[in-house]
Amino acid sequence: MELQQQHHILPLVALLIATFFFVGAPSLAQDATPSLHPVVLVPGNTCGQLDARLTDEYEPPTPACGIPKQGRGWFRLWENFTALQEDPSLLPCYADQLRLVYDPVAGDYRNLPGVKTRVVAFGTTRSFRFDDPARKNVCMEGLVDALEGVGYVEGANLFGAPYDFRYAPAAAGLSSEVFSDFSSSLKLLVERASERNGNKPVILVTHSMGGLFTMVFLDRSPLAWRRRYVKHLVMLCLGVGGSPLNMWPLAFDTLSPPSLPGTVLTYGNRSFASMFSLLPSPKVYGDTPLVITGAKNYSADNMVEYLAAVGLSEEQVALYRTRALPLTLNLRAPLVPMTSINGIGVPTIDRLVFLDGNFTAKPELVNGDGDGQINLQTVLALERLVGGDPDQPYFKSILIPNTTHKGMISDELALKRVVSEILGAN
Ligand SMILES: *[C@@H]1O[C@H](CO)[C@@H](O)[C@H](O)[C@H]1NC(C)=O
Ligand SMILES: *[C@@H]1O[C@H](CO)[C@@H](O)[C@H](O)[C@H]1NC(C)=O
Ligand SMILES: *[C@@H]1O[C@H](CO)[C@@H](O)[C@H](O)[C@H]1NC(C)=O
Ligand SMILES: *[C@@H]1O[C@H](CO)[C@@H](O)[C@H](O)[C@H]1NC(C)=O
Ligand SMILES: *[C@@H]1O[C@H](CO)[C@@H](O)[C@H](O)[C@H]1NC(C)=O
Repeated sequence: MELQQQHHILPLVALLIATFFFVGAPSLAQDATPSLHPVVLVPGNTCGQLDARLTDEYEPPTPACGIPKQGRGWFRLWENFTALQEDPSLLPCYADQLRLVYDPVAGDYRNLPGVKTRVVAFGTTRSFRFDDPARKNVCMEGLVDALEGVGYVEGANLFGAPYDFRYAPAAAGLSSEVFSDFSSSLKLLVERASERNGNKPVILVTHSMGGLFTMVFLDRSPLAWRRRYVKHLVMLCLGVGGSPLNMWPLAFDTLSPPSLPGTVLTYGNRSFASMFSLLPSPKVYGDTPLVITGAKNYSADNMVEYLAAVGLSEEQVALYRTRALPLTLNLRAPLVPMTSINGIGVPTIDRLVFLDGNFTAKPELVNGDGDGQINLQTVLALERLVGGDPDQPYFKSILIPNTTHKGMISDELALKRVVSEILGAN
């Protein structure tokens, strides 16, 4: 299925900013195919690796979580599978240190006092690989290889924008310092990538939650900047309006076993700002029952009641209502040429049934269509939103049968299609 709109040629706004230079790897530029537009990859949830440093201010839940590392410099907090394999007693420490707290005075989320974090290797795709075999291919590493196969060169015309996935953009006017910092870094990265490549505008390629961050980033960038610097947005595996699947991890209040989907949403004891970002939107799902119990049903329309029923505090429910929900409701077309590519034909959770109302028990799952994580409904909602916006310059939606959320960035056939769309956007 393809939705196409007329392609308007937009006048280029000449914004030449000559003050930024790349210091790293200047010789690589010569090896990159000069005719290609630079690509910046924005990966999915949990793909940004985080280093942490503990100061004296940190109050460890047990002494063992503090003493070995306090005052010792940076270590890999997310994700360090090797360390957790070697010493499973670290798990509660890592879970604690990953937690976020909401600071009502600043009106923003923060790390725990005494826990400093930084995203590893921003600007590159070097951090897209994990040491955990179970997480192979969840973070665009296959796409990096495929792009290198057609002439892209890391650091010359291929870049990566990992982010701290625990945080999230907040509704307009509210403070989200970490997302603002990410936006500033992404803006600079795009500008530098363009300048390094004969001022060609950049192709942004996103997977899953990276698409949400990028859509908000674009929406908040001046239109003249978007037109000057963004050649095309290729958004993989994301609609607008979230997925019922994302309600599940919010239902249990302990660290979930690794086999359950959305595991890391519960890391840090249900404290991440991003756990609300892809909840089902009332605009897409309305009052359709998504979580069914014997006594009461929950839909996107009464999400607030669901969050309270699974035991989130009043403060957390208010954070969903004031920070996350308005953002979801106000998503807009990016107004840069866009291709959306999604998988269909894979059973995808449409409803969760907790018949006896016990939210910690395993629910019965009712499946619909999608890529295993993103429902077809939210993809159709994206087509209506972007395809229906008269100001959107170009929009194409591609649905690839039998392709999973992860398969889109790792199956050979899907990758061929994705790469050919990226080359086509050139
Ligand atoms: C993970 O932790 C182990 C032990 O603390 C360390 O040797 C290793 O370098 C860390 N991994 C990464 C990717 O930093
Ligand atoms: C998780 O948070 C709840 C409050 O939301 C708290 O009562 C509980 O002790 C926390 N559990 C852990 C393991 O930190
Ligand atoms: C919940 O939804 C199901 C499925 O739509 C319906 O059969 C059931 O009657 C509803 N239960 C309540 C309590 O509304
Ligand atoms: C809910 O389900 C969990 C997991 O199956 C079980 O351990 C617990 O006892 C149940 N609680 C109630 C009240 O039935
Ligand atoms: C999808 O996969 C199923 C099972 O592997 C197969 O029967 C079906 O033909 C495939 N459909 C398409 C459109 O490739």
